[in-house]
Amino acid sequence: MDRKELTEKIPVHVAVIMDGNGRWAEKNGVSRLSGHNAGMLAMKEIIKRADIMGIRYLTVYAFSTENWKRSQEEVGGIFNLLVKYVGSELAELDENNVRVRILGDWRQVPKAAVASIEKALDTTKNNDGLQFNIALNYGGRQEILHAVRSICERVSSGEIGVSDVTGAMISDALYTGEENGNIPDPDLIIRTSGEERLSNFLLWQCAYSELAFTDSLWPDFTPDEFEAIVHAFAGRKRRFGGR
Ligand code: IPE
Ligand code: IPE
Ligand code: MG
Repeated sequence: MDRKELTEKIPVHVAVIMDGNGRWAEKNGVSRLSGHNAGMLAMKEIIKRADIMGIRYLTVYAFSTENWKRSQEEVGGIFNLLVKYVGSELAELDENNVRVRILGDWRQVPKAAVASIEKALDTTKNNDGLQFNIALNYGGRQEILHAVRSICERVSSGEIGVSDVTGAMISDALYTGEENGNIPDPDLIIRTSGEERLSNFLLWQCAYSELAFTDSLWPDFTPDEFEAIVHAFAGRKRRFGGR
């Protein structure tokens, strides 16, 4: 198959659960934070390849609502890395016309990270290239709860009735909905590190997503492996409940 034929089947939205930084660190005899740093470097390369491949939306799971259970040192270190990443990469992302969006309750993360995020959102707000969504302080159940509450408010104020509530209204009220320009559901979700679960990621949106799992630990995950998985996906038949 030539490249053009493949790109015609390229998924619109690919989401990635970047898992295995800690195990990578252990395997290499370095600190967990060095593992997260290596993970950040891997992420940079995946963004570039996704862009080259013509993927429109790339979503990465960077920090879950459950990750606060980790040590203060690790949590603080992860957010410091995010600040460092935005500081060193924002200009290049902007030059490449990448639009950054954040999914999750990101205003509750440490102040320096909130400031970096605001800068990234503002700097890239007029870009219309690859949309790079970072799920940060993100939880799928929390997202659904947040959406349900906002719809309940509309019902209790009398704006709409109970029978007016639709699935589309729920989709619109999610982080992937109106507040972030209506991101289509992921066509493909990839998880690294050999774990085969979603860990509270995009629970509403994953209804018909293809799932791909690889044993590679996230810092070892290469753009070539990413591309191979995406191409394998292109060959799968999605039926959406039909025949
Ligand atoms: C994923 O790597 C990154 C985050 C969850 C922030 P982990 O830190 O979960 O790595 P493992 O699962 O311990 O190997
Ligand atoms: C999922 O990985 C969250 C992120 C990759 C940010 P975890 O390592 O937190 O998930 P579990 O604990 O293995 O389910
Ligand atoms: Mg993990």
